[in-house]
Amino acid sequence: MNTNILRMTDLDLAGKRVLIREDLNVPMRDGSISSDARLRAALPTLRTALDAGATVTVMSHLGRPVEGEFKQEYSLAPIADYLASALDRPVAFSEDWSAAPAPGQLTVMENVRFNPGEKANDDELAQRYARACDIFVMDAFGTAHRAQASTHGVARHAPLACAGPLLVAELDALKQALSAPRRPLVAIVGGSKVSTKLTVLETLADIADQIIVGGGIANTFLAASGLPVGKSLCENDLVPAAQALMQKTSIPLPTDVVTGKEFSEAAEAVTRAATDVAEDDMIFDIGPATRDQIAKLLQGAGTILWNGPVGVFEFDQFAGGTEALSRAIAASDAFSVAGGGDTLAAIDKYGIAEKVSYISTGGGAFLEYVEGKSLPAVAILEERAAGQAPAG
Ligand code: 3PG
Ligand code: MG
Repeated sequence: MNTNILRMTDLDLAGKRVLIREDLNVPMRDGSISSDARLRAALPTLRTALDAGATVTVMSHLGRPVEGEFKQEYSLAPIADYLASALDRPVAFSEDWSAAPAPGQLTVMENVRFNPGEKANDDELAQRYARACDIFVMDAFGTAHRAQASTHGVARHAPLACAGPLLVAELDALKQALSAPRRPLVAIVGGSKVSTKLTVLETLADIADQIIVGGGIANTFLAASGLPVGKSLCENDLVPAAQALMQKTSIPLPTDVVTGKEFSEAAEAVTRAATDVAEDDMIFDIGPATRDQIAKLLQGAGTILWNGPVGVFEFDQFAGGTEALSRAIAASDAFSVAGGGDTLAAIDKYGIAEKVSYISTGGGAFLEYVEGKSLPAVAILEERAAGQAPAG
């Protein structure tokens, strides 16, 4: 990663009030945590700070509540409970930014997005956060693309601002995959729409040796090659963009697909040649021949960058492509980096986490990094390290 950033691991934290911004924004169902991947990723940072003798306060957002309006479903209370049991120590839960925690205590603050001014990066709110610490640690890679009071403003005002170990590891892994990748670099971009991934596809067209497209995105590329897509999700207005991308780099298209007549768990799955998709068909997965072709490609890859499933893998009859892809990535010797919520769900479903070189906690942040955009919450750490005194 950028070496011009102060790191938490370079600082003496003993006896210091350390405020850590994590991304504890995990999917919740009926008040319980449905995937704890992001929480597990944050634990080593918290342990390190506590073991170093710091008084640790953790802050995060959860979901997108309306500022100033408390709603139980967005409360971080269940997450504080999770941390207490995972770390096997008492955790205080608080909404009061002016309270002084006991030395050595671990405190989880209530959802920062309940605080008016959080999203607008309000300076007064940022100063309130900053006053609560001697050292601010930005560790929330998943939220590093947001310039908000708890990710950016606080870093301007804190006496010291540094990067936490998780953020450092994320930036290191992405840098390894993107700046001098072992070739060939194969990128997999799946998901539903080209429109949300157009910028990342354009960037990847310049740096990747091959791009594998999957999911709804692949349909737009099939249409751009003159193939029938029936009633599949397809963004016709982006056909010219897809054609331009195919001119720039190698984007192998599915030769066979799995179709259904309706988007449902009960839909019958039919495998067809990509040339034989009927008018009332919807493409929900890549077919077996395409899976083999992709597996071969990945076998020879030096680096794999993976974002997005290649089919509707939440329905078993359309999960074969994403499963085959997962297994091919697991089997490959390439340096592999995966990111994005659906991608993590697929990794969990097929149990391949140990076989992926690095699993990013970022979704939007992962994509923005790959797009070559500067992440504001990282940029401010660089500014601070460049010697700017804290503002205000
Ligand atoms: C995410 O899950 O994408 C991050 O936690 C950021 O959340 P946001 O998209 O609501 O800012
Ligand atoms: Mg997001």
